[in-house]
Amino acid sequence: MKIKNVGVLGAGTMGHGIAELAALASWNVMLCDISEELLTKALNAIKENLNAMERSRDNCSAVMERIRCVTSIHEAVKSVDLVIECLPENLEFKQKVFKELDEVCAPDVILATNTSGLSPTAIAKDIKHPERVVVAHFWNPPQLIPLVEVVPGEKTSKEVVDKTMEWVKALGKQPVRMNKECLGFIGNRLQLALLREALYIVEQGYADVEEVDKSMIYGHGRRLPVTGPFCSADMGGLDIFHTISTYLFPDLSSASEPSKLMQKIVEEGNLGLKSGKGFYEWTPEMKEKMVKRRTETLIDLLEKDKKTDQS
Ligand SMILES: NC(=O)c1ccc[n+]([C@@H]2O[C@H](COP(=O)([O-])OP(=O)(O)OC[C@H]3O[C@@H](n4cnc5c(N)ncnc54)[C@H](O)[C@@H]3O)[C@@H](O)[C@H]2O)c1
Repeated sequence: MKIKNVGVLGAGTMGHGIAELAALASWNVMLCDISEELLTKALNAIKENLNAMERSRDNCSAVMERIRCVTSIHEAVKSVDLVIECLPENLEFKQKVFKELDEVCAPDVILATNTSGLSPTAIAKDIKHPERVVVAHFWNPPQLIPLVEVVPGEKTSKEVVDKTMEWVKALGKQPVRMNKECLGFIGNRLQLALLREALYIVEQGYADVEEVDKSMIYGHGRRLPVTGPFCSADMGGLDIFHTISTYLFPDLSSASEPSKLMQKIVEEGNLGLKSGKGFYEWTPEMKEKMVKRRTETLIDLLEKDKKTDQS
């Protein structure tokens, strides 16, 4: 693997997590944001996370030494093999940044974007070397969620996709390769298809919010860490799933607009955990309990993954 030096643009929610992963995997990282203050905040978050993962002090300081902070994008990408852009989700802004990157980076430097859903073809529009632009979509928090969707644009070369897949694997993550781009990639399409049906069940009065969540947590959700939809169908019997499809597909939501129920809640200023109310009342106790439970479960799953990989 040739990649030794990585430029991470943006030290926010995703950028600092990806910088941590790259430094843990022994790459030298140039981490870039607009102010020293934001960079210090990012470094503190990384340290806190390394401590939470119970890394030894030596190991933690070796990881931290591999991260250099800068406030200029040019400085950050001067001598790197791969750039991962984690800047705000705005197409025009990303297009401008990628044009600059294309001008200052040698043609063999991979230019990856962590966009949640913008088109890599659109991001690489009007640049000289669109073949080196690729999506590497990490999920939040990147330290705890293994998935990284690797998505080529229309002009991305196979070599760049291959190398990005290798890089993601070397970070200890699970890359998923798409053949071509589509809105929402794979993960968000599946997540939103599920949310659309959950909202529909509540809107039709078939069941309440808590019951829908319980049905997922204690039923289908129990299998999901082990089997995806195709493997689940294979294990359950394709004849059975085919028969269910004949009567259930026509009855499922095919809404092509956002849910009115969710729209009303959002318009009332209720945004979920961050505003204190959404589908649930987010008291400080509930917030602490759920965040802790989710983090612990994600760590347990990572530990299980490690054991499965070793066996
Ligand atoms: N937050 C998530 O859950 C999530 C998940 C997957 C993908 N993404 C995607 O990752 C990208 C980053 O998202 P985020 O949540 O980390 O955003 P964020 O707002 O937390 O971080 C963006 C950072 O970019 C910095 N920045 C802005 N302009 C800059 C410039 N000119 N030079 C250097 N730094 C600059 C900001 O100061 C900020 O720290 C977006 O494309 C987003 O869609 C986010």
